[in-house]
Amino acid sequence: MLSKKGQNVCKNVLPLPVFILPIKFEQEIKLKAMNKKIAFFLCSFILLFSGSTVSAQREKMLFDDNWKFAYGHPYEPSKDFGNGTGYFSYYAKAGNGDGPAATDFDDRAWRVLDLPHDWVVEQPFDKNGSHSHGYKAVGRNFPNASVGWYRKEFFVPQSDLGRRISITFDGVSRDAKVWINGFYLGNEPSGYCSFTYDISEYLNYNGRNVISVRADVTMEEGWFYEGAGIYRHVWLTRTDPLHVAQNGTFVYSEVNGNTANLHVETTVRNDSREVSVVTIKQQLFDEGAKLLAETRSAPIKIAGSDEITEKQLLVLDNPHLWSIDDPYLHKVVTTIEKDGAVADQYETTTGIRTIRLDANEGFFLNGKHVRLQGTNNHQDHAGVGAAMPDELQYFRISQLKAMGSNAYRCSHNPPTPELLDACDRLGMVVIDENRLMGTTSYMKDQLKSMILRDRNHPSVFVWSLGNEEWKIEGNDTGDRIIQNMQEYAKKLDPTRMMNCASSGGWGQGVSKHIEVAGFNYLRHGNMDDYHRDYPNTPIMGTEEGSTNTTRGIYFDNPERQHLTAYDQETANNYFPSIEYCVNYYDARPFLAGFFIWTGFDYRGEPTPFAWPSISSYFGMYDMCGFPKDDVWYLKSWWGNEPVLHILPHWNWKGKEGEPIKVVAYSNCDEVELFLNGKSQGRKALVKNSHLEWQVPYQAGTLKAIGYKQGKKAMTETVETTGEPVALKLAVHKAGVKADDKDLAIVTVTAVDKKGREVPTAENNVEFELEGSGKIIGVGNGDPTCLEADKVVDVVKQMSPGNMKMKAVDGMENRPEVAAGYNDSDWKPAFSQKLKDAKAIVYRSTFDLPADFHRGKVMLFLKTIGEKQQVYLNGTRIGDEMNQKTDRYTIQPDVALLEAGQNELVYVTTPYHLEYAWSEPNTNPGTIQLTFPAPNYKRSLFSGKAQVIVQSGNEAGTIMLKAKSPGLTDGVLPISTTK
Ligand code: GAL
Repeated sequence: MLSKKGQNVCKNVLPLPVFILPIKFEQEIKLKAMNKKIAFFLCSFILLFSGSTVSAQREKMLFDDNWKFAYGHPYEPSKDFGNGTGYFSYYAKAGNGDGPAATDFDDRAWRVLDLPHDWVVEQPFDKNGSHSHGYKAVGRNFPNASVGWYRKEFFVPQSDLGRRISITFDGVSRDAKVWINGFYLGNEPSGYCSFTYDISEYLNYNGRNVISVRADVTMEEGWFYEGAGIYRHVWLTRTDPLHVAQNGTFVYSEVNGNTANLHVETTVRNDSREVSVVTIKQQLFDEGAKLLAETRSAPIKIAGSDEITEKQLLVLDNPHLWSIDDPYLHKVVTTIEKDGAVADQYETTTGIRTIRLDANEGFFLNGKHVRLQGTNNHQDHAGVGAAMPDELQYFRISQLKAMGSNAYRCSHNPPTPELLDACDRLGMVVIDENRLMGTTSYMKDQLKSMILRDRNHPSVFVWSLGNEEWKIEGNDTGDRIIQNMQEYAKKLDPTRMMNCASSGGWGQGVSKHIEVAGFNYLRHGNMDDYHRDYPNTPIMGTEEGSTNTTRGIYFDNPERQHLTAYDQETANNYFPSIEYCVNYYDARPFLAGFFIWTGFDYRGEPTPFAWPSISSYFGMYDMCGFPKDDVWYLKSWWGNEPVLHILPHWNWKGKEGEPIKVVAYSNCDEVELFLNGKSQGRKALVKNSHLEWQVPYQAGTLKAIGYKQGKKAMTETVETTGEPVALKLAVHKAGVKADDKDLAIVTVTAVDKKGREVPTAENNVEFELEGSGKIIGVGNGDPTCLEADKVVDVVKQMSPGNMKMKAVDGMENRPEVAAGYNDSDWKPAFSQKLKDAKAIVYRSTFDLPADFHRGKVMLFLKTIGEKQQVYLNGTRIGDEMNQKTDRYTIQPDVALLEAGQNELVYVTTPYHLEYAWSEPNTNPGTIQLTFPAPNYKRSLFSGKAQVIVQSGNEAGTIMLKAKSPGLTDGVLPISTTK
């Protein structure tokens, strides 16, 4: 019943049959017709899966696959598929969604993709792009790439009628509007809130259903990269009308001696119209699915269309506690029974642990003092942007743990739930942060949605109500707002304290009544004074660091905007080194610890530079998760393992004789450094510090020996390498699952003839992949690299243009269909109502680029008359098309197409309209040109690049090949298992 640690499992899924069936809405049939392919649109539902059976119980289904996608437009309705232009649009009449919001909208020419999807990462870089968002060509200056439409069709069987069906979006960036079958469901302006709609009443049972989403990132929400689109998971949930409400359990524990009391609060909804009498059973299971404790409520009456909340207690002796080093999880299974039958079963993952923040002693987990050794992070990774597959969350949290970090701040927004799952499973405590501060019901709903969604995660130890709200952090408005928010949040979760990160106004605004003060930067205030004035308020350094480094760089390079990786104060002297911060906090036991800005580099905020720097320099790790040298400094003093690391690399051809600063990060007592066997001196290490030597450069071997209690304990060497001769590939884990989701995160390096990694290599590498899997992104951690992170098929849609019409006296043998026919005196198409004409000819054109042969052209046509024939450049490619069938898909012979202008001619008979008020269709369809994505390429930076491979669903071997001119190929077999 329980998953193994580290596995990406979906909570609350019971092993029941699939109930929502994807349908193939269109069936293609090859027709003879003049050696051309013509396909009929058949309005019949082809069920790809069958065998759905009804179950009374809950089912939660990932709804990520097979979405259609196209760009809309923020202010030109014609480029936004006419959404919102109807005489009676979706705000006027229920169900009147127009454009892509309408059920029967023709999206055949749209791109097909799986979620999570971030369209920003697919855009080129542009110096007019936003500094905050990494100079990508989206946002206000790029309206053509700032609105994205998504549509997905699904089938719901008749047997689901009477159940409750809801759709949950974990996050859409941003300003999402959602429709089901043309019915407007609502709008979520924030890109970071999860939101759910109950769609039971709107569904077509035993029929086709379409969900439409419009996301608009014209306006930015964050001042950091945030991606665009449905960049988190979507879920469909089916329950009995009698069910545990959305996020309807709250499980928290108290530990007294050897006994844990688990409080379980359950909200049960009765969405039927009758009174129901239920009993609620709570069962506690360990990781091995062993039942540990159980309790059952007395019968409870719930009125129709109402809900109740019941409090219950599970008692457990000798509990296995959740902690950072031993993140042991339990599961509470809540069963709702009515008349002896199970109506719903709901699983809540929990961890039994106690937390305490103390104003004098800091943070305690299970009664033990823990120094918070944290990092701040945004949701952004090389290659994929904000659309991070779950495995990347596990990879990133593992990297942070490897540095000795034990705490994570979700700056500055609620994270995707899978990030919290990873922290629960891997052992990392979390500050879960609200996005925008405010006290109206709308603003507080955002706070509520975060707390109700996340309060069962053992990793979350404190809620952050906001970050650096400069307008209010030092004034009475801020004080009033924070008090109001704090009181509200405490009602939703009395078990955790509230925090707010500030950069000033100490003791006046938000920091006056906040339960846990958050200092953003030690030079932004005086923590000693604050502690003196507020002796009962615990303090954390919610941000420290903001130092600027580039991985593998040891001399500033202004031309390339690369900054040395030595840990040091920033050039403006404002932000001290990481080492300074560690010492500052260590010297003050009343401080709970601090969170470095940041764990990983992220796109945007390339301080202290601007274009062409596109990502930040703040990270301890770069965008790919490759460690910068700071990682070893932290590992030395934050971690538990022996560490000896020396920097820089030793490839300094041309600097012979010049002094080079050599640094050792270590937790040994002493370190002695040797160059080519000659001692450069033995030095003693002071806690939380590092060692330095100035060494005149000479190619060869730099060797450090670490001593503990006078004895040789560790050795580390750095050698001057030769030129790269071959590429090498290494994968981050064995045992990739063949589940269409798992990842192989591959490091690419170049090695010299002795097999040593060349730390300065910058070779351009091209990747090829064979087998059941695909590359989903590449990166190299260079903050000024403008190469593509992601390559995707380019899908262009064109409407037949310059369309003109003329009435004629029959359909056959029309001279007007000839290529180049002079139609200069024809009327604009649809400008005349010619219902009595024998036939009407419409002539139109579309342009193809010179290299169209590289791609594929598809004609997704519609009927604009009762009967219809279609000609392409004078050749008939479609006949016997009629209004009843409406949609036709044709892949024309390439020989018929031309670079430049092509002519598409429709010969039709006028519509027979059913009603006087019926509108004839005037949309002739869409021409689609698809260019396949080229091979992925990436140059190495400071010797490394990263390729992210996602498995397919067939077990076997994925072969990844890396090629670069003059180098032996790197080949990596990745075996995947079911
Ligand atoms: C802080 C802010 C962060 C980030 C950082 C960069 O003031 O809270 O989001 O912008 O500065 O130094």
